[in-house]
Amino acid sequence: MNAMNIRTETVADRDAVHTLLCTAFDGDGEARLVQSLHADGDVVLSLVAETEGVVYGHVLFSRLNVVSGDTYFPAVALAPLAVSPARQRQGVAAQLVEEAHQRLIASGETLSVVLGDPAYYGRFGYRHGDAESFESDYQCEALQALRWDDVAPRMGKLVYAPAFGGL
Ligand SMILES: CC(C)(COP(=O)(O)OP(=O)(O)OC[C@H]1O[C@@H](n2cnc3c(N)ncnc32)[C@H](O)[C@@H]1OP(=O)(O)O)[C@@H](O)C(=O)NCCC(=O)NCCS
Repeated sequence: MNAMNIRTETVADRDAVHTLLCTAFDGDGEARLVQSLHADGDVVLSLVAETEGVVYGHVLFSRLNVVSGDTYFPAVALAPLAVSPARQRQGVAAQLVEEAHQRLIASGETLSVVLGDPAYYGRFGYRHGDAESFESDYQCEALQALRWDDVAPRMGKLVYAPAFGGL
């Protein structure tokens, strides 16, 4: 099999990513979320996995703020993450997430939050214990955080990009 290439999503990838998200998820909710995040300028990092131009994996991180009083601390939210059914269980998602994390750390991000299965996201270091003190409309065991630096807050209200309100 030819090598997988992980790179930043471009405008030319948008249709392929839309199709991928509609295929991997039940419905077009995540595809529309991604469209809105792009339109609103809230995308921090969006990567695709492809081979010879065929896109089969995608991960996106959007801006999220941890708000405490008048203080807004910028963090990122991981969502969505998707791999085409035919390419699942081959480590594609893991490589997308690890590459994204390296880029986010290099660009100075200190905190990432995800809402998902702890059995899956735990392998990347996400912990509910690091998210349980946040105030959030989505507070539950599935809410997990990954801290890359001690400057990252442990408390405050998680304010997602407006596009999440349309889910
Ligand atoms: C979740 C998803 C992105 C994983 O992609 P992938 O490329 O197959 O992932 P990897 O190959 O890196 O890892 C596969 C492993 O994750 C496990 N896994 C996949 N989804 C999981 C889940 N929801 N909960 C727990 N484990 C999960 C698989 O069982 C497999 O385990 P193994 O390594 O012990 O065999 C892919 O299954 C997908 O697109 N699913 C539909 C969309 C979705 O649910 N996205 C996540 C939204 S939060």
